[in-house]
Amino acid sequence: MGGSNPYIQYPSIKKPTKKFKVTFVPEGKVVEVDPAQLPFGETGLPGCILDIAMGHGIKIDHACGGVSACSTCHVIVKKGSKSCNEAEDFELDMLDNAPGNTMNSRLSCQAVPDGTEDLEVEIPGWNRNLAREGQ
Ligand code: FES
Repeated sequence: MGGSNPYIQYPSIKKPTKKFKVTFVPEGKVVEVDPAQLPFGETGLPGCILDIAMGHGIKIDHACGGVSACSTCHVIVKKGSKSCNEAEDFELDMLDNAPGNTMNSRLSCQAVPDGTEDLEVEIPGWNRNLAREGQ
């Protein structure tokens, strides 16, 4: 399963036009994103933080397959959040269910950076080192 939710009307999302970096903490893994390579897969909105992570072997849980129907892909965008599309109401509703929800929380399958800033993204502790099946 993957892609976007067919029941949701997505606004147009600005795509990056230049390379930018995403640092995933606490591991501190830095990835350089080349817009020419996006999207890396078909999970979540094209070019979303989850897509970038998966494209670089970084595991973020994503129980619904990236269609904004769960909150397991919750991340905290510590730097560069203004370069991401704005969270829609349905995303904010889902985030209400996420443990440790903060002002900078996003569903990584819905947050698409436009490349105008480098990002620092925290993967919450409860979302790391989970026993996973079928990945
Ligand atoms: S993977 Fe389910 S909301 Fe992002």
